[in-house]
Amino acid sequence: MATHNLLMLPGDGIGPEVMAEVERLIAFFNKRGPAKFETSSDLVGGAAIDKHGVPVTDEAMAKAGQADAVLFGSVGGPKWDKVAYDIRPEAGLLRLRKDLDLFANLRPAICYPALAEASSLKRELIEGLDIMILRELTGGVYFGEPKEMVTLENGQQRAVDTQLYTTHEVERIAKVAFDLARVRRKKVHMAAKWNVMRTGVLWQQVTAAVHKSYAPEIAYEPILADNCAMQLVKNPKQFDVVVCDNLFGDILSDEAAMMTGSLGMLPSASLGAPDAKTGKRKALYEPVHGSAPDIAGQGLANPIATIGSFGMALRYSLGMVKEAELIDKAIANVLGQGLRTGDIMQPNMRKVGTTEMGRAIETELARLAG
Ligand code: IPM
Ligand code: MN
Repeated sequence: MATHNLLMLPGDGIGPEVMAEVERLIAFFNKRGPAKFETSSDLVGGAAIDKHGVPVTDEAMAKAGQADAVLFGSVGGPKWDKVAYDIRPEAGLLRLRKDLDLFANLRPAICYPALAEASSLKRELIEGLDIMILRELTGGVYFGEPKEMVTLENGQQRAVDTQLYTTHEVERIAKVAFDLARVRRKKVHMAAKWNVMRTGVLWQQVTAAVHKSYAPEIAYEPILADNCAMQLVKNPKQFDVVVCDNLFGDILSDEAAMMTGSLGMLPSASLGAPDAKTGKRKALYEPVHGSAPDIAGQGLANPIATIGSFGMALRYSLGMVKEAELIDKAIANVLGQGLRTGDIMQPNMRKVGTTEMGRAIETELARLAG
């Protein structure tokens, strides 16, 4: 039986609670097969700051680099609002992304039939919705230098962030977009601001060139990022794959997540380039939602985004596509049975907490697996 080596980084806030429900599914597979998981865990974010003074240690980074997949919860919270900028909790996540070169962030927004009413948009707009926001994750304004705040002679502060991309960075994410579209509905939108930003011009030129040479059979449409934000709420089903830079991807994926009913539903995968010899990619899986300090520690959080992220790990890192599909089916069925955490609660449904939702998904998974 194949053995997969997972690093768990539950982090802060609701991270540990939702991750416990993934551990439940790992235990399930370890008992039933078809694969074995060996897990180790480490601290990240505020939890790592409290213990080690940094949001992720070199040892944790080394473990992450060795793992078949990293499963990440969430970081941050009011407790660490005052720590120095360079060691804030989020810096741990950003270091993982950057140092492991996880440039491709897949954020699928799927509307489960049972949740069509939970969206703030009309049912007909989002029923059957299945779009993929593909976010570039290791470049752009998140990492460009200079990035600083300096005090001027007149006492004013001057802050600078730098939006920076190279041809290679855009090319490799564009190829991922076309590869994804090939096995989906064969359409790629590239969202950027080429009317204002030089990086936008580069994105448009490079993605158009990649389209022509690499995937001419895929429909390709550049769209201004502001228009894309508007079109997403106007007619989301016109989209299949939307590829964009780091910052636009951050924003558009929150928007897409909310259309599916709740931020608590959206999983994500962050992938590196395939290794030249083994074909394996470094990978980190995390829910799109944050640490939700307001409900942390109360057993109220929705574990579905994190369970869905584990499903993406099975699909994209571990070659367990069938099991990934079973997890998605189990989630859909449990929602169909009327179970709801607070964030997706609707009239006449049964409100449950984190553990009960996780247990119900495990029970349904066991039933489906036969
Ligand atoms: C996300 C988050 C992060 C980001 C934060 C926590 C740094 O919002 O993964 O979308 O901005 O990328
Ligand atoms: Mn975000």
